[in-house]
Amino acid sequence: MRIDKMLSTIGFGSRKEVKKLLKSGAVKIENVIVKDSSKHVDPTKEIVTVHGDAVVYKEFIYLMLNKPPGVISATEDSSQKTVIDLLEMDDAIYEPFPVGRLDKDTEGLLLLTNDGQLSHQLLSPKKHVPKIYFAVIEGVVTKEDIEEFKQGVILDDGYKTLPADLTILKEGISSDIEVTITEGKFHQVKRMFEAVGKRVVYLQRIQMGPLRLDRTLELGEYRELTEEEVELLRNANNKIEKG
Ligand code: URA
Repeated sequence: MRIDKMLSTIGFGSRKEVKKLLKSGAVKIENVIVKDSSKHVDPTKEIVTVHGDAVVYKEFIYLMLNKPPGVISATEDSSQKTVIDLLEMDDAIYEPFPVGRLDKDTEGLLLLTNDGQLSHQLLSPKKHVPKIYFAVIEGVVTKEDIEEFKQGVILDDGYKTLPADLTILKEGISSDIEVTITEGKFHQVKRMFEAVGKRVVYLQRIQMGPLRLDRTLELGEYRELTEEEVELLRNANNKIEKG
């Protein structure tokens, strides 16, 4: 790729600013000063330095965010805080976007990436990627609800959901539950409970495909996925595709 594109992608300014930087002699490829903006570089093989510091280029970024309540799963909004507003500049420059949406009041696992292909595969309705949620439900969740979820419930718009796996973790006037769904209809978990006459009062996503929420992340914190986690996501997709 062109050196000016690489440097401007990772945050060294506009193409014009990068051109100036190159002209100043601050940029070296493999220890040789490069002043020509159109010079090509292979960032996976050649070491690029700016003012003597090596720069790291990556095409894709994969972030796991523990989404806090009160922020929306969008890349920009004129009035509300978005998940992208929670990112450091060094990560935001890669222009990641959320893979699917969590409601404003929902917490937990949200993957952010600029890898359109992986995102598409994870969200494709054909792939049925399982998503696991923890929820607190106002009302007593019963064995009948488990059975209804297993059969699929009819939502307010008449749509019958795919079978969902419901586990009761704590019974009482409010119940703690875990539910696994394999599709992503708007407000799906909340509407599934409405369909059986109950209300979700707290919702947290804890897993998407093979990717589990890292419990060491505080609300609003995020980290890059490990290479193993990215591989796991890709392989899970392949398996789902073949199966
Ligand atoms: N289901 C919901 O109702 N809300 C979410 O944020 C995610 C799944």
